[in-house]
Amino acid sequence: MINPDQSIVILTGAGISKESGLSTFRDADGIWSQVRIEDVATPEAFARDPDRVHGFYNMRRRLMVEKQVEPNAAHEALARLEQHWPGGVTIVTQNVDDLHERAGTVNLLHMHGRHREVRCNACDHTTPWQGDLSTQHICDGCGEAGGLRPNVVWFGEMPLYLDQIQTALVDCGLFVSIGTSGNVYPAAGFVNTVRKIGRARTLELNLEPSEGATLFTDARYGPATELVPAWVDQLLAGVETSE
Ligand code: APR
Repeated sequence: MINPDQSIVILTGAGISKESGLSTFRDADGIWSQVRIEDVATPEAFARDPDRVHGFYNMRRRLMVEKQVEPNAAHEALARLEQHWPGGVTIVTQNVDDLHERAGTVNLLHMHGRHREVRCNACDHTTPWQGDLSTQHICDGCGEAGGLRPNVVWFGEMPLYLDQIQTALVDCGLFVSIGTSGNVYPAAGFVNTVRKIGRARTLELNLEPSEGATLFTDARYGPATELVPAWVDQLLAGVETSE
């Protein structure tokens, strides 16, 4: 399917963390069926009602601890692939959870930020954050209160690492999209970027066909904890036999 000296870019979305106990966004029971994007996930929402926005992210941060959320077999399989794949693996995640890094992935780009990190709207200082955040907290960087916000990319803001992602997409021999519905750009457009260059194969691994399913050259459907380890085993078996 791919030569072991070619690099692989893997885009992940909320579906990969679902079996760890975290909700997706657009499934029937997803987060956006319970709260409105306009109320909690835009810069305007934060300017209008910061307490409401803090409450939403505090709840999500707390859930990670209360539900004892751990990386699952899919996160672990991707870390194993990175360790053993000769051509190199870049994981680009839309997820703000830390399950990829806790599974051992190193070459990881959090394009939508991380919810265990906060950033100051006044001075841009970022710092790791574990507990609740409020408008009373004071920024270590500038000493101001009220400006600290979750370091996540809200609707209407520019995702992170786009130059690095573009370079990785242009160079790769295989692009894989895992557990994402293909509704949010620019991530939903990565498959098209790769298609236009024309060299790489593209693979979708998802519970069901995504919005962009027809754009991929290959697809497998089912739960990530089954699909991803099986796919990684298959790829790494190819590496062993070619050595
Ligand atoms: N295994 C694999 N895929 C799954 C599983 C599972 N166990 N459970 C659900 N899925 C799939 C769903 O079928 C769906 O296609 O995961 C996808 C999740 O889609 P979304 O909820 O839209 O999540 P995502 O694509 O990551 O959202 C993108 O939207 O609101 C923003 O910033 C948020 O990063 C997020 C972005």
